[in-house]
Order: sequence, then structure tokens, then C-alpha cells
Amino acid sequence: TRPVLLDCDPGHDDALAIILAAAHPALDLRAISTVAGNQTLPKTTLNARRICTVAGIEDVPIVSGRAAPLRGPALVAEDVHGESGLDGPAFGPPQVPLTSTDGIGYLRDMLRASQAPMTVVATGPLTNIAALLLSAPDVVERIEEIVFMGGSTAEGNTTPYAEFNMIADPEAADIVVHSGVPVTMCGLNVTHQALADDRVCAEIAALNSPLAGICVELLGFFASTYRQLWGFPAPPVHDPVAVARVAEPELVSCELSRVDIELTGSYTRGATVVDRFARTGREPNARVATHLDHERFFAALLDAIRELSTR
Ligand code: BDR
Ligand code: CA
Repeated sequence: TRPVLLDCDPGHDDALAIILAAAHPALDLRAISTVAGNQTLPKTTLNARRICTVAGIEDVPIVSGRAAPLRGPALVAEDVHGESGLDGPAFGPPQVPLTSTDGIGYLRDMLRASQAPMTVVATGPLTNIAALLLSAPDVVERIEEIVFMGGSTAEGNTTPYAEFNMIADPEAADIVVHSGVPVTMCGLNVTHQALADDRVCAEIAALNSPLAGICVELLGFFASTYRQLWGFPAPPVHDPVAVARVAEPELVSCELSRVDIELTGSYTRGATVVDRFARTGREPNARVATHLDHERFFAALLDAIRELSTR
């Protein structure tokens, strides 16, 4: 199994990423860290504890990280994820604790203490991961790979060319893609293939457990905002795609490319500039996900919800 740290901003699709990371047999989830993104840090942290409570994930420490990006004010996605960041289901008080409010120190110590290098999966703005690399450059050697959900080979979803996790902290994304750690980008071009259509929702509902019911309610809310804001026929579950890439790499095919982050463009700040056709002659620095095996991806997600339903 691969030791994994999951940095997230739950978030409806982050919630499913937590479930997949905790339950997939190929992964050993060692910690969940939270960052400001879809909602404020107190809300994303509460939401991580809520999901772990309802999913019976009690053996994974939850730690909180940065409340604001490296530069400028925090941007939230209340229009997509609602006032709580996880609108839809009703949650009781969380039963799992917050282990540390020094999430970056916690991740640093864990990486330094680990026998084997660990893989970082990041499904929110990259603030915590950039802060970690800046504060402890030695951990570069301790990270096997950083797989993040963010960016796009084409258009964005928050501005015409920027995806939410990138525009929420472009400086952090710039640090991560140029850190020298092997990086894999799972952008909108691949996560928009992960549509939780009616058949997927019916299969989850048929598991007939309290956790499955919560997942269906989460997908129902997510479907309504995606229909309203972007006219999508079904909601794209972005974040579990990054987890799936680590758990079962063959489900998410990738190409090696040069990726740079636009920091200054008048219209394009936060865009991921992907040199797909190697026209610039600049050294490739990332694997860029291009294709998702929809069938097997949702089978893995369904298995994870089923597995945690029995806890
Ligand atoms: C990303 O932004 C958030 O809305 C989702 O959780 C995902 O990580 C998609 O652009
Ligand atoms: Ca997210």
C-alpha cells in the first residue's frame, strides 16, 4: 500500500475523495489536512471531521493548515458548495477530534519520521503544500509525488482560463509545480469526465446505508449548483480523480508536459499553461492527466462507500 497524505477543502467532491482515500485497499491514508478554499478554514475543517464521523474514519488524524493564500485575501466557493461548504445533508456534531491546528508542522514531522517517502494528494488550493515546501525544503526528498486536482489544459471554471484551486492561490501552485517533486496535475479536462450521472447515483443509493444516503444528498446538492452555474447535466466529482490516480494509476492516463502558472496576466491569472505539443522547448515538469476510465473510476468509488458502510 502507498502511504498518503490528503490535503483538502471539503467541499462535496473532497468529501468523496476522503472516502476513496480512506477505503481504497491500495492506499494507507496517514493524515487529512485542511485548507481554506471551498469555504473558510473553520468550515472546511469542521466538514472533514463531519465526513470522517459519518464514514467511521476514526484512525486518521485531521489537522488544519492555512486560513488564507500566500498572497491576498481568501476566495471561497459558496456559490458551488453552499454556506457550510457541504450543503445538502444534515450533520450531527462531529465525533472525531481535530488533532492539531499546526497542520504544516504536523505534515513536516510526519514526512521526516516516515520510513518510506509519502505521496501527497491535494484537492484544494495548494497553500498548505507550498507553505510546507517553503518552511522545510528537506521534505522535497521525503515526498514521492504530489498529485493535485486543479488547473486545466483548456478553459477554467472560475474565470475563463483559471480553475478554482489555482486562482485561489496561484503563487502556491507556482511553487508546487516548480518544486522538483514529481507532480501530477488532474485538471478540469479530465475531471469533467467524472460525471456522477443518474446511473451512478442510483448505484450509490442502492447500497442503502446511512453513508450512501449522505453521498446521494451531497451529489444532489452538487448537481443543482453545477446545473445552475455551468449547465452541466450531472456533477463532476473532481477531487476523487486525483486519489484514483494514486490508487489505480491505469484509471487516469497522463502525458508528460511543461506546466507553468500564469501569475500576472490581465485576464488569465491562475491559468495553468500546459505545453501539450512541446512547442516551447522548455523541460517537462509535470504529468498531466488526460483521460479517465469512467466505469472503473465509479466502481472504485462505489466499493469505497460500500466498504465504509459496514463500519
Ligand atoms: C475544484 O474546486 C472545488 O470547487 C472542488 O472541490 C474542486 O477541488 C474544482 O474546480
Ligand atoms: Ca476541493
